Amino acid sequence: MEYRTMENLGIETSLLGFGCMRFPTDADGGIDEALALAMIDRAYQAGVTYFDTAYPYHGGQSEVVTGKALARYPRDSYRLATKLPLWSVKTIADVERIFQEQLGRLDKSFIDFYLLHALDRERWQAAKELDVLSYCEKLRAEGKIKYLGFSFHDEYEVFEEILTAYRWDFCQIQFNYMDKDTQATTRGMELAARLGIPVVIMEPVKGGSLAKLPWDGIDELFKKARPDASTASWAMRYVGSFDNVKVILSGMSTMDQVEDNLRTFADFEPLDATEQALVAQVADALGARVQNGCTGCRYCMPCPAGVDIPKCFYVWNQYHIYENVDEARWNWTKAVADAQKASNCIKCGKCEQACPQHIAIREDLARLQSELDAVAGQMGAGQ
Ligand SMILES: NC(=O)c1ccc[n+]([C@@H]2O[C@H](COP(=O)([O-])OP(=O)(O)OC[C@H]3O[C@@H](n4cnc5c(N)ncnc54)[C@H](OP(=O)(O)O)[C@@H]3O)[C@@H](O)[C@H]2O)c1
Repeated sequence: MEYRTMENLGIETSLLGFGCMRFPTDADGGIDEALALAMIDRAYQAGVTYFDTAYPYHGGQSEVVTGKALARYPRDSYRLATKLPLWSVKTIADVERIFQEQLGRLDKSFIDFYLLHALDRERWQAAKELDVLSYCEKLRAEGKIKYLGFSFHDEYEVFEEILTAYRWDFCQIQFNYMDKDTQATTRGMELAARLGIPVVIMEPVKGGSLAKLPWDGIDELFKKARPDASTASWAMRYVGSFDNVKVILSGMSTMDQVEDNLRTFADFEPLDATEQALVAQVADALGARVQNGCTGCRYCMPCPAGVDIPKCFYVWNQYHIYENVDEARWNWTKAVADAQKASNCIKCGKCEQACPQHIAIREDLARLQSELDAVAGQMGAGQ
């Protein structure tokens, strides 16, 4: 396992971190606890020491299952991260109540890495007005949290403002070879390095999109260069090639993904110049085809009208990337129920306020409904 040092904190973390937002689920949508525990155990035994959960993941159950999984190991042998859901905070009493609830769910007496969750311009303003940081500093002084940071979803200028406004212990950003010019951007990575603030990466495989590229022979470029390497490993190695990246969080949802990622990080190799050029080629080709930047984080859900927004976007983006009409028709007619389809959108805009990617969701839903209806009709006529 590759380990990196957070110099400012004087600690070492495994470069691969376990993201506990995408645990395997059972038929009724709950966490498949036996498998989730087995996956965490495999990762821990192989040297993973960083585990990232949050208050809302899996409807609150992620913190419970993560806490249960980690209870099997000595408390000083791993680092536990969780996050304060600022959107549920109106007063400091809310922070206190939520934090106590989190300690209870996790069944722990302290949190190693505590984050203000999904900061953007508005949430940062609200956090400042409430002086949430002073309260978090009190928690740190009491030993209830060790390190204080934030996760981020907005544009570079906002990132710069937040990063330079306070002496953060660490920060967490979305970064992958498709998101190097969006969100905090490569500039943001460089700024954090200059300030000596270690970076934790989320969505390194863009929520799964960069793990499957079987079109136009593009994946063949990767396969030719490294026949035994998975497509996901290229995305991980791209991110890990930045020195100030100290943890790469992967939301693994199967044991095979755990095994594959452990192989990538067991003997980690940064990309060389030829490989960097190959990744840039793939990024250009992909960028030309994806319709929007939905990563499937589901912050937009639940939709009051029942639309399964991430599912609709997934089918739409897959169709545009792969141009597999049979698959798109099957997905649109069988995998997305009528009650979940974009046509149910009432244009209330609640989803757009929550979307970390700032996607024009209502507009895109209208476009995809007519495009996918046309695809389904076109195939139906041909049968
Ligand atoms: N703080 C925030 O605002 C925030 C936001 C988002 C995420 N996070 C945290 O960051 C973590 C990482 O983000 P993420 O889960 O979006 O990461 P990610 O690694 O980009 O996406 C995870 C998905 O990638 C696919 N995958 C991962 N490894 C793979 C492999 N070796 N082979 C094939 N597919 C693979 C799987 O997709 P399929 O199963 O669909 O194939 C998996 O569900 C989250 O789990 C969460 O803890 C935080």
